[in-house]
Amino acid sequence: MKTIISLFGCILLLFSSCQNTKKTEPLMTYIEEPHSFAKPNQAVITHLDLDIIVDFKTEIISGTASYLIRNNDASEIILDSKFLDIENVQADGEDTNFSLGAFDETLGNPLKISIKKDTKQITIFYKTTNKTEALQWLKPQQTADKDQPFLFTQGQAILTRTWIPIQDSPQIRLTYNAKVEVPAQLMAVMSAENPKVKTQDGVYYFKMTQPISPYLIALAVGDIAYKPISNRTGVYAEKSMLDKAFYEFSDMEDMVASAEKLYGKYAWEQFDVIVLPPSFPFGGMENPRLTFATPTVIAGDKSLTSLIAHELAHSWSGNLVTNATWDDFWLNEGFTVYFEMRIMEALYGKDRANMLARIGRQDLEEELEGFKDTPNDTKLKLHLKGRNPDDGMNSIAYDKGYLFLRTLEETVGREKFDIFLKNYFKSHAFSTMTTEKFVTYLNENLLIKNGITFNTEEWIYEPGIPENQAIIVSDKFENVEKAVLEFVKTNTIDKAITTDWTPQEWVHFVRNFPEDMSAEQMGLIDNTFNLTNSNNSYIAMVWYEQAINHDYHGNNIDEKIEAFLTQVGRRWYVSTIYKAFKRNNKTDEALAIYRKARANYHSVTANTIDDMLGFEGE
Ligand code: BES
Ligand code: ZN
Repeated sequence: MKTIISLFGCILLLFSSCQNTKKTEPLMTYIEEPHSFAKPNQAVITHLDLDIIVDFKTEIISGTASYLIRNNDASEIILDSKFLDIENVQADGEDTNFSLGAFDETLGNPLKISIKKDTKQITIFYKTTNKTEALQWLKPQQTADKDQPFLFTQGQAILTRTWIPIQDSPQIRLTYNAKVEVPAQLMAVMSAENPKVKTQDGVYYFKMTQPISPYLIALAVGDIAYKPISNRTGVYAEKSMLDKAFYEFSDMEDMVASAEKLYGKYAWEQFDVIVLPPSFPFGGMENPRLTFATPTVIAGDKSLTSLIAHELAHSWSGNLVTNATWDDFWLNEGFTVYFEMRIMEALYGKDRANMLARIGRQDLEEELEGFKDTPNDTKLKLHLKGRNPDDGMNSIAYDKGYLFLRTLEETVGREKFDIFLKNYFKSHAFSTMTTEKFVTYLNENLLIKNGITFNTEEWIYEPGIPENQAIIVSDKFENVEKAVLEFVKTNTIDKAITTDWTPQEWVHFVRNFPEDMSAEQMGLIDNTFNLTNSNNSYIAMVWYEQAINHDYHGNNIDEKIEAFLTQVGRRWYVSTIYKAFKRNNKTDEALAIYRKARANYHSVTANTIDDMLGFEGE
């Protein structure tokens, strides 16, 4: 009778396979994954024990990755590996056969390991190489303090396989422990329970007891220190950045509290941020328990901290409910932008949130324009098989995703939408989500229930923006737009109206100069507001873009642009500037700078700019 019931249960739970009928271990079924060689339905990793030495002299990580595995009667387990030197593999302590399959430029190699039906554990002895794309090894000169070297990893989307052999699909979830040995004067931190002070011997032990996807395994090593903000939030940074970071992010506890109020308890206990050296290729990366952040958000006035709200929001959308494949990336980022805006609104009010949303709306418009010849790239659900998942990392996932959710919110009403989202995160915590599964869940739990018809399919599976889009209005920005028009008409600007402007208003002001604005007019603005020397990285970045667009060369701006591009490696910033050079037929100037700057870039940024400028090395 028991078997009959459990069989019946299996039929009901079509998607959780029931072999072994072990109730204690409901196995999930993994869907076809275009960016991983693993076959997790046959054999899957469940836990990692990492034991590595970080050697700054050779710039190599070496050691062992041991996995507990769940085997479904398979005779081999397949992992992803790229640019790794695999020295030996053991299964339950005995040497076993392994081989690397054909190399793919984007995906690397399948690492095929022979196992037995009852194999419980495998151990891989390996080394990274000088091609390893996840790692950036920095010389002291590239850090804030300029005294010690630094190392950080970047796993998303498919780079974890370049520093750890692993089943590198976001559908995989694993817990991990790590032992990491670093030079004694440095500290190591991971996306795990972290040390707060340095050890004497440079050996650090880590534990991540909640299952996470491989792209969220992260490590940073440097001469860093910790400063708590509350009993569950704090910052890591190099000495010269620590107090600045502490001040900039001092609202972090309030952010966590307001996020919890919106969509349920923070699941990861600790929320810390590490401020990395300026070559970090992203604004932020939501590594669980320890967000990695660019120092370019440290503006001195907390004006760019929506980035922290964004990475925090990923603690729900992304880290708890994870996109099943990179084709579903909008589920991570669109929800996160929506959540970010809600945190910002709750903490700083509607004006601030509306400005941020309007900036995103303009980003989206520019992205749509850029994709006008490839409309399929403007769909939320993507088909990236055969392409680099990085191709999907653009404003569509973020800002069209946001606009979809905001339109939904306005259609059903905030109250119902919030209950829906809270339940969505709760009922799918620590699991993966496909776009199709989300659509079903949305229909069943929000739309049908409330008798609402909504063009979900059009939003998700069609290119462009549907007509029923929410209209995002910012009164503050409307005033800024008036100021632009007034200036263009009169060549004068009333300084008084700008005295209360926030950096967002300045950004909007600069981004909305008309195309035919002259270099003289740029000079007039610069001489009044000194934007060339802005200490706010965001204002500086959009101002540089406009300087290139309008052929403005006053106030030594060319030197400033070059200095910015050689110091900062944040991909979004530097690609915006290089793109402006290219658009204005100044690719040679761009290349002249890029040749000097490239060595300071992480592979993620270098690859993007290589492609953009057609740079093939020399
Ligand atoms: N998870 C992303 C960064 C990412 C995406 C890395 C895809 C690799 C592949 C992170 O949460 C993010 O969105 N960062 C943004 C910040 C922002 C939108 C506030 C960034 O880096 O600019
Ligand atoms: Zn994000």
